[in-house]
Amino acid sequence: MFRLTVHGDDRIARIEPGIYGHFTEHIGGVFYDGIWVGEDSPVPNIRGLRLGLIEKLKAIGAPVIRWPGGCFAETYDWRDGIGPREDRPTRINWWQSYDGRYEPNSVGTHEFVDFCRLAGAEPYIAANITSLTPLAIRDWIDYCNSPAGSTTLARERERNGSAEPFNVRYWGVGNETWGGGGNMTGETYAHEFRRYAVIMKNACRDIELICSGANHSDWHWANDVLRVLEPSLKKMDGLSLHFYCGSAGNPLSFTEEEWYRQLRQALDISRAIDRNWGFVVGYGMEKYARLVIDEWGCWHPAGSGPSVHMKEYGIDPAPNNPDCVGNLFEQQSTMRDGIVAAATLNLFNNNAEKIRMAAVAQLVNNLHSLFLAGGDRLITTPTYHVFDMMKYHMGGEALRVSGDTGEIRREKYSVPNLSVSASVREGVLSVTLANLSVTEAAGVSLELSGLIPEREAEIFMLTAGDPHACNTYDEPEKVCLSRSTVSFDGSLTVPAFSALTARIRLRTPKI
Ligand code: AHR
Repeated sequence: MFRLTVHGDDRIARIEPGIYGHFTEHIGGVFYDGIWVGEDSPVPNIRGLRLGLIEKLKAIGAPVIRWPGGCFAETYDWRDGIGPREDRPTRINWWQSYDGRYEPNSVGTHEFVDFCRLAGAEPYIAANITSLTPLAIRDWIDYCNSPAGSTTLARERERNGSAEPFNVRYWGVGNETWGGGGNMTGETYAHEFRRYAVIMKNACRDIELICSGANHSDWHWANDVLRVLEPSLKKMDGLSLHFYCGSAGNPLSFTEEEWYRQLRQALDISRAIDRNWGFVVGYGMEKYARLVIDEWGCWHPAGSGPSVHMKEYGIDPAPNNPDCVGNLFEQQSTMRDGIVAAATLNLFNNNAEKIRMAAVAQLVNNLHSLFLAGGDRLITTPTYHVFDMMKYHMGGEALRVSGDTGEIRREKYSVPNLSVSASVREGVLSVTLANLSVTEAAGVSLELSGLIPEREAEIFMLTAGDPHACNTYDEPEKVCLSRSTVSFDGSLTVPAFSALTARIRLRTPKI
């Protein structure tokens, strides 16, 4: 039995809803055949956007969506994606050298903002500072945010269908500037950031700028960048961090050892959070800038997703490349990916004071996706269900949880038996527990300190008969969320390789 205490009087911080955000790039099947099916498609759509996906995204309260990349952003010119679709140019996509697909620009700023609005999310645009000038980015901000009729670009936006401004609040100043985004040193990027940031902020007061941050366990990048940014300028509102926890074995047929290794790799994100946050605090920026973990997730070898069978149902993923058999980077997601997601989101909740936003990579037909889609088929993955189960934490006050979370030891590493986080919102306590053991159920005794619970708890449970379980086009509901109401006496059982969120109404909410 694991004894845990939720401390009603020990508040960490508000959990920014943006922590539960998403990432969409023009890569493989994320947009084309994923989110975008086209207005003339027999697949149900709203203005070309896949309706089923929008409805499901809305159901989990998607707060923010990042776009257009990723690496795609490094060579993206926003002007290619506006105006009549039939007149838009076809370009070399950043990923074309990998999969032979060209970029038709059917999705541009209008379509992306439309997608966000339909899903109820805020748009977050990653600006290309690698191959566009500060003036071109200034113009993009002008096009998106200037009041109706005010500027030439606002009038162009109106001619293209939107008199009202898009009011895009979040802007990334580059993407992975240590890699595809310019191959810069931290110091060089910091000077570029200063140059772009002053022009971007000057173009619109109501925007927040995200500084391109470190990769995984690069402990130097944040230091190299932040020491050149003048803290008193206050131009940086968020420092990004990319953390892919890689793969351990085959995404579908991993061993027990690989289960734990994958989880260990995922949990190491907490070291990256602490290190990068340490630099933000060390340079005195914590009052106005927090972390933005805008790409995170598992990165398994490609080839396990359903699009490897695309040609069998009449879709050619890349007519220019006969070797391309499916969507670039597309992978299946099992219960293991779902538990990685639950443990990662628990860590984000427990570090709520440090994190402004986050985006799991990527939304559909790619790495660690919530959806797999092709033609008229659309399924959700275990990760989708984790976001569904944990949506109640968004906007809540994160509470400290103490106690025994156990330890599972393997030769070189260990993972806790349990991952946990708790928050209160509108008089309801939400506690998420993920059992990281792949063999043993976990009995939990939950003490609520300073909180008086009602007698009943609503339990959302994600469990399956096998840790390798996943949803497929043939079995779309093999892994799904169950909901039950139980009488609550503080004891809960979490089956092996499973997660649950317990929601308990409080009689005398202190928060
Ligand atoms: O998500 C795939 C790629 O991973 C993104 O384009 C890039 O930012 C990262 O390296």
